[in-house]
Amino acid sequence: MQEQNIEKKIRAKFSKALLKWNREVNDRSMPWKGERDPYKIWLSEIILQQTRVEQGWSYYERFAKTFPTIKDLAAAPEQQVFKLWEGLGYYSRCRNLIATAKYIAEEYKGVFPKTYEEILSLKGVGPYTAAAIASFAYNLPYSVLDGNVFRVLSRILDIETPIDTTEGKNLFSGVAQNILPKKEAGEYNQALMDFGATVCKPLPECAHCFFKKDCQAFSLHKQQALPVKEKKMVIKERWLNYFVLRHKKKIAICERREKDVWQNLYEFLLLETDRKPNIKNLFAQLEKNYAISKTDFNIVKEAQLSQRLSHQLIHFIFITLELSEERQIDDMYWVDSNNLEQYPLPKTLQSLLQKQQV
Ligand code: ADE
Repeated sequence: MQEQNIEKKIRAKFSKALLKWNREVNDRSMPWKGERDPYKIWLSEIILQQTRVEQGWSYYERFAKTFPTIKDLAAAPEQQVFKLWEGLGYYSRCRNLIATAKYIAEEYKGVFPKTYEEILSLKGVGPYTAAAIASFAYNLPYSVLDGNVFRVLSRILDIETPIDTTEGKNLFSGVAQNILPKKEAGEYNQALMDFGATVCKPLPECAHCFFKKDCQAFSLHKQQALPVKEKKMVIKERWLNYFVLRHKKKIAICERREKDVWQNLYEFLLLETDRKPNIKNLFAQLEKNYAISKTDFNIVKEAQLSQRLSHQLIHFIFITLELSEERQIDDMYWVDSNNLEQYPLPKTLQSLLQKQQV
């Protein structure tokens, strides 16, 4: 019973605090945000079923520009639609998109349906997408429930019921619906997604969180253990230890060729380990593998950070060295640091460079 009281108290506080955060702090901008046209919202959600926000952004803009209304999309030659979809993959989603546009153009005379049930019955639209469209377009009181929402709710309320079970799905769906401020469903749903994507991330940024005083997981130090999944996903931990080699205005980079994260993007000299490295050993390896010894450099900077990908926890160590010469190393290029933007780099490396931390 005590648990129920805690939940009630937290629920009341959370939705209010989230809306306040959304209005005063949240500056995440996306082209479909605040959109009230159900067609455009549907378009964005179908694209986002397929890809991440960063990549979906330009696809959405191209679709919305080429087909400003659902009638335009329904009337377009299918080849044109497939061409615009190119690169997103999973072409059955594109086929559903075309079929649904034609269905609405014919059955609804091009006017997007207005009830949750009708929206849910559309091809390619599940409960999540239906709740998003119904709440964003019509402010209907349906809460979205996706990975972000499972994570946020499990943490603020300390719910350990596994999210990949029927019991968990029913429980979370009830909690999500209870916590939803019915009059502000659209704004709240988008704010919840933004909060999950920018603050309450898999590796959360609790220091910036407006709710940390009331968050059950934070007070119990178990943010990382929530949400719980029954089928344990094995998270691989890896340490990417980078030597950032500089000489005057030049910096040494190489391309990641292996079939691994960041394939074909550029990085610095990497010594990967499967456990936390001893820094002395890294320098020993640098000397052994690349004949770069203490007399060849000055240590300029060191930085460390961690990043959680879906199946990996990656720890980075960056040691920036100013070399006494441009040492030639197999597969590494010395490039002018001012021209680095010509090379595709992983976001993490790009942002460290921008902040001059490496
Ligand atoms: N993922 C799915 N729908 C989204 C939205 N509206 N904003 C951000 N990420 C999303």
